Amino acid sequence: MSLDQNLGKILIVDFGSQFTQLIARRVRELGVFSEIVSHKKIKLKDIDQTIKGIILSGGPLNVYQIDKYSFDKKILQLNIPILGICFGHQILSKLNGGKVKQSKHREFGLANIYKKNNSLLTSNFFKKSNTKKVWMSHADQVSKIPRNFRAVASSTNSKFAIVEDRIKKFYGVQFHPEVTHTENGKKIISNFVFLICKIKKNWSSKDQKLKLIKDVRSQVGSNKVICALSGGVDSSVVAQLLNKAIGKKLFCIFVNTGLLRKNEEIQVVQTFKKRLKMNLIYVNAEKEFLKKLSNVSDPEKKRKIIGNLFIKIFERYAKKIKNVKFLAQGTLYPDLIESKSVTGSQTSKIKSHHNVGGLPKRMKLKLVEPLKFLFKDEVRKLGLELNLNNEIISRHPFPGPGLAIRMPGVITNEKIKILKEADHYFIQALRDHGLYHKIWQAYAALLPVKTVGVMGDNRTYEYLCLLRAITSEDGMTADFYEFKKSFMQIISNKIVNSIRGINRVVYDVTSKPPSTIELE
Ligand code: XMP
Repeated sequence: MSLDQNLGKILIVDFGSQFTQLIARRVRELGVFSEIVSHKKIKLKDIDQTIKGIILSGGPLNVYQIDKYSFDKKILQLNIPILGICFGHQILSKLNGGKVKQSKHREFGLANIYKKNNSLLTSNFFKKSNTKKVWMSHADQVSKIPRNFRAVASSTNSKFAIVEDRIKKFYGVQFHPEVTHTENGKKIISNFVFLICKIKKNWSSKDQKLKLIKDVRSQVGSNKVICALSGGVDSSVVAQLLNKAIGKKLFCIFVNTGLLRKNEEIQVVQTFKKRLKMNLIYVNAEKEFLKKLSNVSDPEKKRKIIGNLFIKIFERYAKKIKNVKFLAQGTLYPDLIESKSVTGSQTSKIKSHHNVGGLPKRMKLKLVEPLKFLFKDEVRKLGLELNLNNEIISRHPFPGPGLAIRMPGVITNEKIKILKEADHYFIQALRDHGLYHKIWQAYAALLPVKTVGVMGDNRTYEYLCLLRAITSEDGMTADFYEFKKSFMQIISNKIVNSIRGINRVVYDVTSKPPSTIELE
């Protein structure tokens, strides 16, 4: 492997922030290797000379509960530069003798910060104006900085929005430079990595591929692996990665849940079995899934049922193949982050993604999840590095629970049929109008509401179709795509005129947050 860890890496200490992996990703984007470790697991002896800088993440608790943070204070004496972010900034100040208290005004969302002093950390960050918009998410704040620290920038509510101890190379920022909403936030991270820690670039997508192949080989040894192939970007990349890593020991299983997009099962079999010549087992489990889901309308129940049944089917086939020890899945970091913390630190749960929260507790197969620290766009780059074609790589994401979570309320055969058609027309129209690749994800959903319409001279009473199309960088945040009125007219007419069962089309104009991308 060409990665030379002696060129230096950044250690990220996770205190349970929803954004810890974003920090790691930002460091990777700079071409530098980084590693995340939970604050609960970090040991002084593990910090060797390859670690040239430490970033302390944000987190949901506060510094008064400091006993819960088994963070060894001696780490501060190692002569290694440290950047504290949000909670990390507070704990860094507190451990150095500063004070943290609850703010009178909590800051969530965008805030302005104002430059007070020059610093290496903010070199070329403020540029011409002495103010920047940053993204805050905190209830506490540093009220007194430690001796030898000084303020580099302030906001209206936080006097110490950026602080530094130049001699010890300790830096703290109250906001989140890792999120895209912070103007020029990447500059803060890059200044820390290159100017303060003085690390050289040592990481590329080729290194990423080689490291993942090596990791898979060392995890699975000479055992057989079954791979949950859906035909989407993530599982296709996983299958191809495993194909390169372990060849014939890989068995791909494609389950038709009955909740796939129109004709998807035909396309998947053609691509992977016929064209890529992989070991593909096609399982038609339509009836099994629909039976288990009948009369279920609770979103979390749907997710759990689907997740459990998936695993059961895999276990069934694993038995047939014999001596299978592992199940490979295309779990990505956003799937994990919203279900549980990667390092075991405490974060809040948003949804049980079917390939994470839905797993049965006593699962008999061990998991191989090589993409679990990557974001979608990084997975696409990896796919290209693995020679997958662009048609597969650039597909919009499709969730494991499929159409089940795009159909709030109970699931019926009739609704599935209607929804498959509507989604097909929408996606086809996006392709025909050259819009498909401008949009990060798009789909049609069927709402459990009937409304009155008039077609010809007759009254209709049919379902409401919701269209969602979003722009996003990584699925963590999203905005709705602004279509021209003419396109909206075309697609609305096409759906209402072509599909029996829908007489009204609405467009979802919410961003994420506050909404999520999927409806359930
Ligand atoms: P949300 O709805 O959480 O979606 O904003 C973020 C991204 O994740 C996809 N998604 C899933 N993917 N299993 C998956 O493999 C799931 O259970 C699941 N739920 C949501 C969603 O389509 C979007 O791209």
